[in-house]
Amino acid sequence: MNLNEVLTGKLTGAYQAINWNQVSDQIDQATWHKLTEQFWLDTRVPVSNDLKDWRELDDDHKWLVGHVFGGLTLLDTLQSQDGMAALRNDATTQHEIAVLNNIQFMESVHAKSYSTIFSTLNTPSEINEIFAWSDSEEFLQNKTKRIYELYHSEGDPLKKKISSVFLETFLFYSGFFTPLWYLGNNKLTNVAEIIKLIIRDESVHGTYIGYKFQVAFNKLDNQRQQALKDWMYNFLYDLYDNEEKYTHLLYDQVGLTEKVLTFIRYNANKALMNLGQDPMFPDTAADVNPVVMNGISTATVNHDFFSEVGNGYRLGNVEAMSDQDYQLSSWEAHHQPKK
Ligand SMILES: [Fe+2]
Ligand SMILES: [Fe+2]
Repeated sequence: MNLNEVLTGKLTGAYQAINWNQVSDQIDQATWHKLTEQFWLDTRVPVSNDLKDWRELDDDHKWLVGHVFGGLTLLDTLQSQDGMAALRNDATTQHEIAVLNNIQFMESVHAKSYSTIFSTLNTPSEINEIFAWSDSEEFLQNKTKRIYELYHSEGDPLKKKISSVFLETFLFYSGFFTPLWYLGNNKLTNVAEIIKLIIRDESVHGTYIGYKFQVAFNKLDNQRQQALKDWMYNFLYDLYDNEEKYTHLLYDQVGLTEKVLTFIRYNANKALMNLGQDPMFPDTAADVNPVVMNGISTATVNHDFFSEVGNGYRLGNVEAMSDQDYQLSSWEAHHQPKK
């Protein structure tokens, strides 16, 4: 069976049932287990417990929270509606398609979870204004359109994977900074819990797509590898240039811009690491503001999945993914962090 023929409806041979007892790439199975183990829903996190903190914020900080989440909604919408569908066309195993189906659904959960936060914290007219903003804001639309166009181009499948990893591991982080900053200050902790569940998913998504990229990249000759590297670094720099402007727009009024820029350069390097490439920026974890690192390292609060009381989100009670999660030789060979 040719996988692409099945995917495009041009089946010439027999249609093949997916057999999970014969998995050709163990990373597919390990990722499926990881993602299903950490399944969660936005409706199980008691966001209304943050209303007291919310009411204490001034208008500038309320504006920031609402609009970073508007931006994140747009990016998760892109991943759920276009990103995974684009990557499915280039899948090399049936199990990869199953994993991408899981990711696609969770991207819809992510996109919806911001609406859950809005409906708790914002008035209907504020919500309308946030969506009108995210559907029109220049720098937010710029990055969304760049990624969208690559997803829908006839071009190189590897450029689609690069786009996806840049979105997952880099572009989200100008937005994620805000809830992590509040969490590090022990504010809006339930909102931050949702964001940490999203970050935990994005971490697996970026690592998995990055791995699939590396498998294909390593089969290219040196000349094609170099051309793709040049394209990748230029593309990242263009995205960073735009991200700098987006960050000023969001954060200048609360004086956090420089802290956010350090954080996003650190995450840009992590995106390159997922793709098996050397870092572009000098920033490391030690340069990121400790309040944000404190927020990102806080264990999930663990809400009870079934009763919404107590303190155990049982189905989501797993740690964020690290490089050590895949103790498979083929994985490690491609995935050593760059010094
Ligand atoms: Fe997402
Ligand atoms: Fe994702």
